[in-house]
Amino acid sequence: MHRYLLFRVCVVAALGSWGIPAFGADEAVLKPRVPIDQIEEARSWRNPLPATEENIEKGRKLFHGKAFCMTCHGKDGAGLGGDIEPGILKGPLPRNFTDKDWQAARTDGELFWILKNGSKGTAMASFIPLVLTEEEAWQVLRYVRSFATEGK
Ligand code: HEC
Repeated sequence: MHRYLLFRVCVVAALGSWGIPAFGADEAVLKPRVPIDQIEEARSWRNPLPATEENIEKGRKLFHGKAFCMTCHGKDGAGLGGDIEPGILKGPLPRNFTDKDWQAARTDGELFWILKNGSKGTAMASFIPLVLTEEEAWQVLRYVRSFATEGK
């Protein structure tokens, strides 16, 4: 009996850190990531680069190349989801960029803030200035935004 209880405790502990709640998961994803005292400023930042094919293409190359975003967010931007083995990443799953609700919930400035600062307590690190210049970050974000319009 004791063994069985111990087993149950282990299962609950494992699911507690890895189980994705069937209810309320979207809310957790949509919750702003930029701290409340900085969000107003972050939301005022605008992408200075227009959504031209050229800028999106530059962002695509960075995403799949030196910025290695695709290792976590997937080649198709859908975030790898269940393909990640438990234990490899701690914390929330990489964002699915084809999620239209998430795309609508965020301003470009908030995404730029994340590329500068990372998302605390998750595998999403800071990329500016070590990996990306500010200009490159805006190019990558043009590509990230292009997943919203692909009708997936
Ligand atoms: C090591 C894995 C990993 C890599 C590499 C990575 N990300 Fe992430 N990313 C994550 C995770 C995990 C989250 C979810 C963080 C959270 O829920 O707060 C995330 C979240 C994000 C978000 C959403 C933040 C929000 O406001 O919801 C953006 C935008 C993003 N990543 C862009 C990128 C870009 C662009 C790159 C490449 C320059 C990149 N990521 C590389 C793991 C990664």
